[in-house]
Amino acid sequence: MPKPTSDMSTSPALTLFQQHFAAPPVHFVRAPGRLEMLGNHTDYNDGIVLSVAIDRYLEIAAAPRADGLIELVSTAFPAPVIFPASELLANPAAPWANYVKGVLDQLRQEGVRFSGFNAAFHGGIPMGAGMSSSAALEVSTALMLRQLYPYRLTEGGPLSPPVRDAQGRLPELSRDETLAIAKLCRAAENEFVGVQSGLLDQLSSLCGQAGHVMEIDFRFLTVKLAPLPGAEIIVCNSGVNHALVGGEYNELRENCVGAARALGVTALRSVNLKNLLSHRDQLSPRQFECAHHIVTEIERVVLAEQALRAGETRRFGQYMFQSHESSRDWLKNSAPELDVLVELARAHPGCLGARLTGGGFGGATVNLVLPDQVSNFIGHMTRQYQERTGHILEPVVCRIVAGAAARE
Ligand code: GLA
Repeated sequence: MPKPTSDMSTSPALTLFQQHFAAPPVHFVRAPGRLEMLGNHTDYNDGIVLSVAIDRYLEIAAAPRADGLIELVSTAFPAPVIFPASELLANPAAPWANYVKGVLDQLRQEGVRFSGFNAAFHGGIPMGAGMSSSAALEVSTALMLRQLYPYRLTEGGPLSPPVRDAQGRLPELSRDETLAIAKLCRAAENEFVGVQSGLLDQLSSLCGQAGHVMEIDFRFLTVKLAPLPGAEIIVCNSGVNHALVGGEYNELRENCVGAARALGVTALRSVNLKNLLSHRDQLSPRQFECAHHIVTEIERVVLAEQALRAGETRRFGQYMFQSHESSRDWLKNSAPELDVLVELARAHPGCLGARLTGGGFGGATVNLVLPDQVSNFIGHMTRQYQERTGHILEPVVCRIVAGAAARE
């Protein structure tokens, strides 16, 4: 059996495991959160999204157990959650564990066999901030189970399990396996949480590359990489809760899908602004607004990709500002606090770009800031946001890291 690697030894998940189970864990896995840099709600429209995995992680320490029980503990919730591996029932008293059960349930439906284990969880990703804490929980759960009970999933179903090398390490995930795990985790989210989200969060958490922006094409399910030179990424969490479960997300999706159907295409990716404007009368006013955002946002992502390839970070930032305006005015998934954050950021000379990130309706903004302006920018945002809204802002500088599919 592999030993947890030494640089993980400071993780609160390892400490909690040892305290609670009075034994060392056998496995340690982690999955990062993500930031959507550009491409708001374009993933489920077969569009393109530019995203990054960031150095905030969901961490799990785990070990197998012989009595067929699963016992989960978390640094965030005092009560342990214990259940037989054969009974994966959602429990409203411990909603965090339902994400874990949801993934286990999907794995079982795919024919993956497993029995009992102990696991300690630590979440370093703020919840409800649009940084994909739930996708990181789902992805790390799927990878933890792969360590405990090795499996190999592909689009066509399960294959024979992978074999550990002489150091006890499992082979790296293939592209097919990575996609299958991302889709399985999304299915867990769709079914357990009831949000018809796209594949962005799970794929980003799995496929990130240190120092690089991922260009994820959701029509072809390909991931290309581009560096992001000359800027730091700062997240400003508005403190306004972002409740995707509220139905707003599903409403946006329904309007986009409805617009595509009315225009006779499989997805809005196939429509350009000229087509859209000339067929406006086929859409309801709300379908038109949503489609307007999606169509222009996909065009912006294409231009922003070109800016990245040309090393023009400043031009890239301009597309971020435009994206925020489009989300605010057409998709209407901003919140007054997010608009204040973007307005304040824009007024700072060191800020190259700022926008809401993720589902919207609250959560956080992502800001691109010149490296030598970072502390000045943070001071400006903190002071001004408190003056304008009364809320304390704690901006976070994020590094772009490798995704969970990369071998540590
Ligand atoms: C949430 C969803 C993603 C994506 C973004 C918006 O994060 O989980 O699939 O749709 O919102 O771009």
